[in-house]
Amino acid sequence: SLRSKVTVVGSGNWGSVAAKLVASNTLRSTSFHDEVRMWVFEETLPSGEKLTDVINGTNENVKYLPGIKLGKNVVADPDLENAVKDANMLVIVTPHQFVEGICKRLAGKIKTEAEAISLVKGMEVKVDGPRMMSTLISQQLGINCSVLMGANIANEIGQEKFSEATVGYRQNKGAAESWVQLFNTPYFNVTSVQDVEGVELCGTLKNVVAVAAGFVDGLEMGNNAKAAIMRIGLEEMKAFSKLLFPTVKDSTFFESCGVADLITTCLGGRNRGVAEAFAKSGGKRSFDELEQELLQGQKLQGVSTASDVYEVLSHRGWLELFPLFSLVHEICIGHLPPSAIVHQYNQRKLKG
Ligand code: NAD
Ligand code: 13P
Repeated sequence: SLRSKVTVVGSGNWGSVAAKLVASNTLRSTSFHDEVRMWVFEETLPSGEKLTDVINGTNENVKYLPGIKLGKNVVADPDLENAVKDANMLVIVTPHQFVEGICKRLAGKIKTEAEAISLVKGMEVKVDGPRMMSTLISQQLGINCSVLMGANIANEIGQEKFSEATVGYRQNKGAAESWVQLFNTPYFNVTSVQDVEGVELCGTLKNVVAVAAGFVDGLEMGNNAKAAIMRIGLEEMKAFSKLLFPTVKDSTFFESCGVADLITTCLGGRNRGVAEAFAKSGGKRSFDELEQELLQGQKLQGVSTASDVYEVLSHRGWLELFPLFSLVHEICIGHLPPSAIVHQYNQRKLKG
């Protein structure tokens, strides 16, 4: 048939909501096949049941998105190769640390005419420099890859509360229009911009700022200090993005993927919450331990992104240009106390 088949690769907190959004549209539109496959990284629940069986039996991801029905046309599949083999539209939405391994397994197993979209926030840093997830996906799978980022705290969208999102595309405007059609709902307003790097870097870098905002919250430094961190963070996000990719547009930072995602994540995100707990412990408890305890299997992206960004900055001699980004990493690895986010920033700013 001419209807596109959609597969969602990933079924965490946001992955499950993405499947729900998409599944509501595939039912409504004749452009898509009704069924949405969702690849599940299989695990056994405390009850002894397999997560996949529970999702297919209850239509709910009881571990990562409890209390929300995904839609009866969402089919959970623990077999990665099987889940993608017929797909024309691939939605990639796993924590960024797993993307490379997944793509290696999928290389050569995807339809050559398939299109991908990445909802993943994060980057990869190798000796030859940083690589964005959409580039990794595109190179490994040999297909075009757009991105979707925005002020999108998953649990709120799961409850059908209003939000916006931004699709970033490289050249294929037609593909971007299909992605908007697949994701847009009355409570999820999606627009597209031709700036894949700008959109993806916004989504990736705001997680570093959210960690800084969490430190400020943990130390009860107040709303003004937090607003200052958000402003400085936005400035560094823009400067870093433009140094890496001079084509990045200023207007992208005013889209949902830019300032709006920065605000919502600094107010209510997981990176913020775990960083707050870290600061409250005086930096004595590790992020790994706090992530496990507070997120129960969900994953933080900001701490490893801060480390990736730091590597790029030190490799290129840009550390002094980005005092906030570098301080977040130095605090996360225990070289400085959480209060340095404000106090050391001021000192470095005065010197710079
Ligand atoms: P999550 O944080 O809920 O992570 C848990 C998922 O990782 C589970 O599906 C788990 O099965 C899977 N997993 C664990 N080990 C794995 C392995 N070895 N291989 C493959 N998968 C494994 O995931 P999420 O919230 O869906 O986040 C995915 C991406 O979306 C991230 O980059 C995140 O930053 C981004 N994002 C999240 C939100 C949100 O509110 N949750 C919103 C926007 C964007
Ligand atoms: P956290 O991972 O910090 O919860 O941020 C979610 C997000 O990316 C909202 O758009």
